[in-house]
Amino acid sequence: MEQQKTLWYERDTDSIAYIDETVLPVSFEIARCTTIAELGTAIKTLAIRGAPALGVAGAFGVALAARRSKETGYKEFIHQVQSEAEWLSSTRPTAVNLSWGIGRVLIGMRDAGSVHEAKEAALSEALAVAREDAIICRKIGQLGAELLPDHCTVLTHCNAGALACSEWGTALGVIRSAVDAGKDVSVIACETRPLLQGARLTSWELARDNISVTVITDSMAATLMRKGEIGSVIVGADRITRDAVFNKIGTYMHAVCAKYHNIPFYVAAPVSTFDFKGMEADIIIEERGREEVASFFGRNTIPDGVPVKNPGFDATPLALVSAIVTEKGILSEPFDMRQIM
Ligand code: MRU
Repeated sequence: MEQQKTLWYERDTDSIAYIDETVLPVSFEIARCTTIAELGTAIKTLAIRGAPALGVAGAFGVALAARRSKETGYKEFIHQVQSEAEWLSSTRPTAVNLSWGIGRVLIGMRDAGSVHEAKEAALSEALAVAREDAIICRKIGQLGAELLPDHCTVLTHCNAGALACSEWGTALGVIRSAVDAGKDVSVIACETRPLLQGARLTSWELARDNISVTVITDSMAATLMRKGEIGSVIVGADRITRDAVFNKIGTYMHAVCAKYHNIPFYVAAPVSTFDFKGMEADIIIEERGREEVASFFGRNTIPDGVPVKNPGFDATPLALVSAIVTEKGILSEPFDMRQIM
């Protein structure tokens, strides 16, 4: 069956089309952007989100900047594309895939001999990034499915599904592949405050695919683990350094609880999410706006003047991770990353 893509490039109009994830599950809308500024807004507002989807968006963004550039001189053209790419990269700094996708297309354009050739090279490299993402997610799914026993209940956090990638998903890709292989898998989706990616997106896409899913508030996870209702935890990642997994805020508390209750804690992510040189201490965690925490469905929930904290991600030390599923194989203690470089 043809999978619904999360985002795609429309060559005839030079625009990027995407599922607008800010309006799900109330409505399903396809939006388009035709400038880097519009793409940046879609990324900042999380209309396009999730690490692998950000990689594809970054790649498409460079193609868009190149193909819409009016510069005719090669030097000026490259300068314009590079500065737009640099700005785009800054829109979400923690998820490494965004700058990875941007970098890949910039490299793909490097050997072009003219502006015309560079525009063609940019699009062809960007389309390759999107195509490969779909293949990589299937491979992660296929390898990771082996980790899930038949008749299991899996807890997940945020959305690491088709909506976070070009299709299929990483953590949810593992679940999809296990279900495809005939296993009976039920999912517990944490709602994921403040923006509710678990409640709004994970439950939407799993229900659409007839995969059993129940939503809980984030603070219910520990109790369900204690009661023996969770067989394993599987999440995606936004960046994996030599010592930690960065993922949506709240992931760390699930990893701590899983360790305490002897529940395996799995991470599923493509190799492009690895920051092979970085360490936890080097990474800046995106701090998001007050309004995301201080209101709920348009109503103020915190008195004016009371400060909030809103880090978008947290770091989970590798010591709490049972295995990381990548398209090149499964890493476990001692997490020798040379195996997948
Ligand atoms: O802020 P978001 O919604 O972009 O955060 C997304 C996550 O934390 C996902 O778990 C991660 O990007 C992995 S997606 C396969």
